Amino acid sequence: MKLTVIGCGYLGATHAAAMAELGHQVLGMDTDPDKVAALNAGRAPFFERGLDELLAKHTADGRLRFTTSYAEAAAFADLHFIGVGTPQKPGGTAYDLTHLFTAARRLAPRLTGPAVIVGKCTVPVGTAPQVIGLLREFAPAGDRVEVCWNPEFLRESHAVEDTLHPDRIVLGLTGENTRAEALVRQAYGRIIESGTPVIVTDLATAELVKSAANAFLATKISFINAMAELCELTGADVQQLALALGHDQRIGAKGMRPGLGFGGGCLPKDIQGFMARAGELGADQALAFLHEVDAINNRRRERTVGLAREQLGGVIKGKRITVWGAAFKPDTDDIRDSPALAVAQALHQAGATVTVFDPKALDNARKAHPRLDYADHPIEAADGAELLLHLTEWPEFTRIDPAGLATRVAVPRVIDGRGTLDPTRWRAAGWIHRALGRP
Ligand code: UDX
Repeated sequence: MKLTVIGCGYLGATHAAAMAELGHQVLGMDTDPDKVAALNAGRAPFFERGLDELLAKHTADGRLRFTTSYAEAAAFADLHFIGVGTPQKPGGTAYDLTHLFTAARRLAPRLTGPAVIVGKCTVPVGTAPQVIGLLREFAPAGDRVEVCWNPEFLRESHAVEDTLHPDRIVLGLTGENTRAEALVRQAYGRIIESGTPVIVTDLATAELVKSAANAFLATKISFINAMAELCELTGADVQQLALALGHDQRIGAKGMRPGLGFGGGCLPKDIQGFMARAGELGADQALAFLHEVDAINNRRRERTVGLAREQLGGVIKGKRITVWGAAFKPDTDDIRDSPALAVAQALHQAGATVTVFDPKALDNARKAHPRLDYADHPIEAADGAELLLHLTEWPEFTRIDPAGLATRVAVPRVIDGRGTLDPTRWRAAGWIHRALGRP
């Protein structure tokens, strides 16, 4: 099939590459010429495991190309996936839908024949009818342009795998037996044939599935982190608690790792945007619990700073602190709303000299937080430190020998914000080891 992907960020670039991998002819479209140049050269402008390989493979075999031109996109195919960003409004909590509406408005006048527009971005419920309204108003093809809402559930750091092997496909449609459904099912043919469930809904349900899923994921993380607060007061161990809870099939261990909490470009923004939309709908109460989810999440960051102060004898000012981790989670260079950098920044503001190391996110961190210090190696970062904080759980940190590291720091004292450093091993190597939610 021939298809386009409009908007080539994390979601769109991955979707475009994955669609080429499924055998389709794909044209990706983005208004950023630098991004388009990198993608055409077979490189993603961000780090995502496996994506560069797919981009290189399919830009070389001719199945995948990128452009900055809406006209070219409209002429290339009649199936268009929209994956533009829907960030938070500057200074607000609701979604900024400018990119989405701009994409619809700019594509529409070029749609002269039957076309299917597939919305993949995360939007507040009630957005799809507005997109349909724009297409009706500006597309010469009028109601021969159909819309499908097909939310994307990919996780950064697993984006390729999640796109090629999703656990479900949700299709929000305007009616039965639509051309949109037929075309989208055909595009996902190989995925559907492999047994992936397809759930067909109305537009509003499809939009809500994504908001509800992210609200649930955030709630699960904050639930276990609320338990961590109780563990800290009672001497209980949240890691063992999570393990014991997770064996109950109804609860499940996945997505319930306690620690410094959630960040990134999705969960924090999506729960805010969801609450904002509920407010507009007069349903504030239905999502009031998400305020608490957010508050618990922020308290983990404050608690980490508090624990650092405690460990440093009540004074942060003038201390040398090392932070391992800048990305919002391992295996990405994304630092959006990174809990690790929020803590590093707070310690810097309290007067410490903070040196940060991250395996992939240093360039992004340097740009966003120029006042922090950076080192290119985790051990070098720890030279002379009075406190080490482990805040993003890259697997390489667990492989570092704590005994060797103890000879480099000024004081062998570590706070594990992610619970993956083995306390027995670190204590045996002479470290004072503290972890969130653990005795
Ligand atoms: C999330 C959703 O998982 C995905 O389905 C959606 O499409 C986009 O938002 P992502 O932001 O890539 O994906 O990351 P995710 O793996 O969910 O982690 C989000 C944050 O929660 C990270 O900061 C991570 O460190 C934290 N987290 C995750 C925990 O603290 N504990 C967990 O058990 C899981």
